[in-house]
Parts: sequence; structure tokens; C-alpha cells
Amino acid sequence: MTPPGSRGLPDVQRRDEGTRVVALHSQYPADLVGVPGDDVRLSWAAESTTATAQVAYQVRWRDDGEPAPNDRGEPCPDGDLGEGEWHDGEPVLDDRSLAVVPPGGAIPPGRARSFRVRIATAHGWTAWSAPLRVEAYAGGFTAGRVIGSHDGVPIGGPALYLRREVHVDRRPVRARLRISSLGVHDVLLNGERVGAEHLSPGWTSYEHRILVATHDVTAQLERGTNVLAVVVGDGWYRGRLGWTGSGLYGADLGLVAELVLEHADGAREVVGTDSSWRVGLGGVQCHSLYDGYEVDLRDEPDGWNRAGFDDSGWAPARVLDVPMSRFEPRIASPVRTVAEVPGVVSVGSPSGTGSGAAVTRVDLPQNITGWLRLRVRGRAGERIEVRHAEIVDDAGALRLEPLRTARAVDAYTLDHDGEHVLEPRLTYHGFQHADVVGGEVLAAVGVAISSALTPRSELATGRADLDRFHENVRWSQRDNFTSLPTDCPQRDERLGWTGDARAFAATASTLFDSTAFWRSWLRDLAADQRPDGAVTTVVPNHLLLGGAAPETYMQGRAGWADATLVVPWAVYESTGDEQALREQLTTGRAWVGYLADRLASTGTGFLPEEFQYGDWLDPAAPPDEPHLATTSSAFVAHAFLVWSARLLGRVERVVGDVALAVAAEALAEEVAARTWARWRDHALGTQTGCALAIELGVAPEAEHAVVGDRLGALVRASDGRIATGFLGTPHVLPALTRTGHDAEAYRMLLRDEPPSWLYQVRQGATTVWERWDAIRPDGSIHDGRMAQGDVMLSFNHYAYGAVIDWVYRHVAGLAPDPADPGYRTLVVAPRPARALGRASASVLTSFGRASVAWWVDGDDLLLDVEVPFNARARLDLAVVEGSRVEVVSGRGGAVDRRAIGPDAVLPAGAHRIVVRRARFADVSVGGGAGGRVVSGGRVVSGGARDGGA
Ligand code: BGC
Repeated sequence: MTPPGSRGLPDVQRRDEGTRVVALHSQYPADLVGVPGDDVRLSWAAESTTATAQVAYQVRWRDDGEPAPNDRGEPCPDGDLGEGEWHDGEPVLDDRSLAVVPPGGAIPPGRARSFRVRIATAHGWTAWSAPLRVEAYAGGFTAGRVIGSHDGVPIGGPALYLRREVHVDRRPVRARLRISSLGVHDVLLNGERVGAEHLSPGWTSYEHRILVATHDVTAQLERGTNVLAVVVGDGWYRGRLGWTGSGLYGADLGLVAELVLEHADGAREVVGTDSSWRVGLGGVQCHSLYDGYEVDLRDEPDGWNRAGFDDSGWAPARVLDVPMSRFEPRIASPVRTVAEVPGVVSVGSPSGTGSGAAVTRVDLPQNITGWLRLRVRGRAGERIEVRHAEIVDDAGALRLEPLRTARAVDAYTLDHDGEHVLEPRLTYHGFQHADVVGGEVLAAVGVAISSALTPRSELATGRADLDRFHENVRWSQRDNFTSLPTDCPQRDERLGWTGDARAFAATASTLFDSTAFWRSWLRDLAADQRPDGAVTTVVPNHLLLGGAAPETYMQGRAGWADATLVVPWAVYESTGDEQALREQLTTGRAWVGYLADRLASTGTGFLPEEFQYGDWLDPAAPPDEPHLATTSSAFVAHAFLVWSARLLGRVERVVGDVALAVAAEALAEEVAARTWARWRDHALGTQTGCALAIELGVAPEAEHAVVGDRLGALVRASDGRIATGFLGTPHVLPALTRTGHDAEAYRMLLRDEPPSWLYQVRQGATTVWERWDAIRPDGSIHDGRMAQGDVMLSFNHYAYGAVIDWVYRHVAGLAPDPADPGYRTLVVAPRPARALGRASASVLTSFGRASVAWWVDGDDLLLDVEVPFNARARLDLAVVEGSRVEVVSGRGGAVDRRAIGPDAVLPAGAHRIVVRRARFADVSVGGGAGGRVVSGGRVVSGGARDGGA
């Protein structure tokens, strides 16, 4: 051990050459410019050949100074802008490397700060890391006003075109464009798109917050006349949404922007949106998120987005009266193109349009959210129409009923003879197949869009269908994380249903780095929370805004509103960052306060009897009334109350007030006891009842084993048929595992008869279905008909994909530990099945890559575990009496085998583990594990029980 330096710190003169800091990052996506400068927190990973853990860290920072010329008197290139001195923060004796508040205070508005970190191990200090540069939001608009015009442009009609010429005498050293809109916009500078993004500023709770993008346009500006050109369309602001109609947030489209130029001599120029901008119309004849985009290319004003265009026929912009306090910097990635999927083009398929025009079928190998980019040959004046659908029927015709009233048609009228590249904007579709009517299609590419989340994990097993299901879930997340977490991307809905988000939050955080995305959406959830603490059923909450739905449906619903605490807790567990908990503490308190008030209001100790969505879409519920699930909605409502109160207790203990934690826990206990006394017998009769009783803490711990046995028996009796809806599905396999019924969990997971997860895969699904039986075994398509007459049949709903959380935790065996979150302690708890043969998973954690891979070798299980630097792994291995666990180190002749406990803790590094006579889940039997089952050192099945894990 190195002799400690001053104040217990390692001596700064001592170097650890074998360790280096990598992946220094903040909580903001690396490519986001203009983030809040007052709450930046740093995380880093390290790689080491000498040490396993950090003992201290030090941060240094440097601000961009005022712009200054370089030695030769030329303007500095951006990023090198008159940099100030490095300031060194104090070395800190702390092993924390996650969400560290750096020294230096807030980054001044509009300025950039670079950070570097070095750490000490037991062997000394590392070199400084590569710098991380974070540029702060410049603050509210000072020169820019919200502008619009063309009074009376109907919703769904033409898009607004706005332009302004800007004369630049000398190239600035730094140029930033800050921009937002009422409606969605595309911005061009000198004819080139600014920012490779779509549908900006995205959908937020517009009455409270509208997001501002900051773009670095230094390289795009030219000396002389520059042109800012912006197209603004209805989007979510003014277009139709759900069943509420349109124009909910306001009647006028608007644009607000500021171009700020900074020169080498310190001079600053600001060009804002004002009445000097010109507004006109172009070829976009109509556009809508649901219905599609229609353009007559002959009407596009030639050269309007370039200098020299005569805009004298256009009108001056009108300044709109909009509270400027609504505009705030974005904190998550915008919607971008995330994949391009080549389409298979075939001529002569049926179109169903009856138009007689030539029809070309485009089939994608993947159901996506986005649109088609087509290369077509056609004649001037010819109309090309593109119709989208998720599925085709046996006869090959597009099935459009699942879209309900969403037309999902893009149309182009060509302006010249010959080849064209056609691509819509201001819209998106959820589709896998399209009919192109008219023209000759030369090539087609599916452009997949999403909120540009970085994939975080990988999974592979011995079953190709399970791997494909995992891939389908990833796609459903990509396809539905489009600015907000939508239920589905195709029909006239695409809303932020909180219940779907609640079901999927844990899986979402494992599959992609979703932290910033959730944080932004949770701000909308908080903004939309009702004064009495009720949380809305959709966020952003436009349904109540439009008065289209009764309050009892649209707020405070069990399993939906509970997203308030479930989502931030999932983010915390997966990332270790407390920020989401802190930011949602008030919201969570108010939500549980609301529930407590509802309890008190009846004087019975129970919640009022009222509508609940319940265990929505359980396969036995009437297909046209999915809320009439087998498990009582009243039980479910109380179970979720218990869970929200328990979660609030946990959140209070991490970031709040211990006394309030105790109060929340007491509420949970009290309601749990009453709920269990009233609904015990009922709950024991359904998969959801048993699963919620165990996983949400309704049944007393002492009864968990009994409830688990009952659940196991239900699963065996139904041969692994899934019998859960949106509320039960995330919890049923965890409940089985927790109570030692892995065999039954596998029986459900690996079943491929309907209803099951893998049945969809067998039917060729490439995303997750909304209904378990969306396509029946005979190939017929569910009519999806609801009691009110509308169709509910999406092929891209992520909620049932929630099972993937369990697959990571217990098929591969890789999970974060809620007591030491963010994978600082990995929980390695695979529950291997011979039927799988092998499984592996990795997660790119803040500490580095964590992975587990296992395979079967006779009666033994072999595992490779990779624990990143500064993390550790807690084993929870599947053993029976007589098992022996060894950790193997060294190679060839020098192999060293050391016996360890099945619950040993391993430090950072790569470990090979052998479990001799391991416990395997026997999928075919589905009843126990052939011996006394031990989990976490405790017997949970096949012997004397202690009440669950
Ligand atoms: C949505 C669901 C949602 C549900 C609530 C449906 O129309 O697609 O995913 O949670 O309504 O009832």
C-alpha cells in the first residue's frame, strides 16, 4: 500500500502508469451544445493493469475566455477560443466516480468549460484524462421574439416558410443559432440543413416548457449574405392529437431564434426573429404527423433558402404574444436518423387504391418509425403517392385498419421529367410495408428515426428466437422513443401513456442510455401534475387540456400514474445517478399524498371504487374491453398504491427526509395489510395477483414462498401460458425467480404457442405486439375491435417487452444492485437452463463494460464475469446442496482454483468461475430444480422455507 500523502491522500508525486481515466462524460449527451450550466456532473471510467479501484480523484477545469486572436492575429478556430488557465480543484479522497459535482461552480451562460480528471489508485496518480467540453445555454432570448404570420393558414394546410438575410462582413470566431418553435421546424443556413435532426423542438408540455436547440453554425456561415430559412409545420403543437382534435396548444405557428456572432476583437452581433423576417408559402400543401405530407414540387419557391431570392412578395412576420418563460434549453438528444433500412422493391402488387395507377410495393425487413426515401423516375406534373402500413394480409394487401384515422400517406407532385429523390418532412409513420402509386421506383430506403439514444447493452443466448425477441424489443424502444415515450408509432395516437412507460422503464434503461431522455420527459410529468397531486395518464397531458376525456380516466390511474416513482427509480438503479430522484422528489411526494387523500376520502381505509385500466390487455380480458382483466382492478389499484409508497420511502432515504421515508413505509405497510386481508384469496388465483403480491410487497414476506408456489402451480397448470397484461407482465418472471421457480419462469419465457412472447417471433414479428394474439396461428389478423367501435391493434408497442429486464437479470445474470446502483455492484445471478445451453450479456456502465457469459459443461456451469474498474460483483449463483463454486485464475499449467461461496464478492477484473454440480432449471418439467434450492445463501424451494429471497 502506498504511504498516504497529505490529509490521507496518495502522494501526488507517485504515478500509476498502469491506470488511465477514460470515457469522461457529463449527464448530457456529448453532442448537445447549450445545456444548463449550473448542474453539470461528471462521471468517468478507468482502465487499469495495476489496480481495481479508485481511492481519490481530482478535477481541473478551464473556461473559454473572451474571443481573442491567435499569435498571428488571426481568429482562433472555435474550441480554441481564447482559452483561460487551467484551475485545479482540490484532490478528493473518495472512491466516487459517478455523478461528481465538479469544482468551479456554474458555467457562465453561453460559455464552454473543459474538464479533465485524474484519479489515484493504491499505486499513485494517473495522468489527466482527455478533456470533456461542455457548453452552457446562453440564457433566454433577448433579441428574438416569437414570430408567425399568414393568419388563417388552416391546421393541416400549408407549412410556413420564413426567411431572413444576414450580412456578415467578417467571419466570426464563434456563431451559435438558438432556435425553437410553436410547431415543428426544419432550419437551413445557406441552403444546408442545420443540425441533423427531425421534428424539433419535439413534444413537451408546451403550456409549461418548449425546448430550445443551440447549434454551432460557425463553419456554415459565409462572408457576405447568409440566409436563414425555416419551415414550420403543425407537429404536436397545432396538429391533431389522439382523439382531442387539433389546435390544442395554440392557433398560430411560430418561430423564435437568435443568431449570435462573436468576433475576434470581442464584438458581438445578435440577429433575432422579429418583424424584419419574411413569411411565405411553398409547395407543402398539407402536412400532419398522423396523415402525412403532401408537396407540389412545382410550387417550391426557387432558391428561397439562398441569397438573392426576391421575397418582396412575401409578408413581414408578425410578432406573437407568447410568454418567453416557456422556452428552456433541451437536455436530451433530439430526434435523428438512427438507421437506414434498404427496401425490397417489387412491381405489380395490389394497392387497394383502385386508382388504376402503377403500384410498386416496398417491403422493409424491419418495422420502423420514420419514412421512405425514394428514388423515382417520373414526369413533370405526375403525382406519386406513398401509403404505409405495418402489415399486409395473405393476399398481399396493406392492412390499414390498425392506423385508425391516421392516413399515413405522403404525396409528391413532380416538377420535372426524370429522376427525383423524394422524402417527406414534418411527419412520421410506423410501417414496414408501403405501396407507391405512380412513377417508376428505382430504389427505396426506410429512414428510421428516434430520439438518438446510445445502445448500452448486448445479449445472446442459445435460442435464436429469444435473441430475435430481444432485438424486437430494442426496435420497439427505438421506434417509440421519438421525442417522448409513445405507446405506438403508427395509429392516430402516439401518446405518452404513463402506464406503458412504467412497465418498460427498467428494460429501457438497460437497452439504451435513456437517462437524459427520461429526465426530460419526467419534467413534463411534473409540469402536468395536477394541483391535488394526481398524475396524468398521458404525458404530455393534452387529453385533459382538450377536455376530450373525463378526468377519472385521464389522471391518477393505478399502474399509469405510478410512473412518477417507478421511472426515476429505474433510472437511478440502472445509472446510479441521483438526479432523477432529486428532481422528482416533490412530484413523488405529491403523488403519494394524493393517494393517501383518496384513501382518507372514503373513510373505509380503501380507495374509492372507480374506473381503472387495470391489468390492461390480459389475454383473457374481453378483446373489446381490455380493462376487464381477470385480476381485480381494485386489488391492482391498492397493490400499486403500496408500491408507490414503498418507492417513495426508498427515494426519501436516498435524497430526501428519513422521517418522511418512515411515514411512506408505514402507509405502505398499513395498506398492504388491509389489501392482503381483503384480496388474498382472489390474488392467489391469478398470475398477476400472485406476481404483484410478491414483487410490489403486498403479501407479507412470510407468505412469499406460499404465493410463489401458487404462482408456480398456476404456470404449470397452464403449460406456461402467459396470463398477464400491462401490470402483471413485468413482474411475473421476477416473482417466480424470487421464490425459486425458475423452471416455470423459463417455461413461460420459452413457450412459443400463443399467448407468449416468442409466439410473435414465430409469426415473423420484428417489433413487439400490443395484443398477444395480434396474428392468430391460422394467419388471420385480429380485428382489434373495441367496444366503442375503434380498432386497437398495434404491432409496435413496447410494454410487453418489459420481460427483457428479467432476461438480463436472470437468463444472462447481469443486474445492478439497488443498494449500490449504476452497476457499481453488479449482481451476477444467472438462473441457467440446459435448454438454453448458454447466455451472455454486457452493459456499458458508467464504470466501463460489465459482462457475464455462461455455458453448460456436463453437470457444471462455467461463467466468465467481467467487472469494470472501481466496481465489484456480488455473486448469487444457482446451487444445490453438494454444489461447489470455484474461481479459476491463471492459464495452462499454473491454473489456480480457489473455492468461494455462491454469494462471494469479486473485485474488478476478468473472472472465470466454475460451479460444480450446478442447479439448472429444468424447463420440460417446470417443477422445482431437483434438489433444495438455495438463493443468496437461503433455501427457497424444495425444503424448509424462509419466506422468499
Ligand atoms: C394505448 C395503451 C395505453 C392504453 C391505456 C391504449 O390506447 O395504446 O398502450 O396504455 O390505451 O388505456
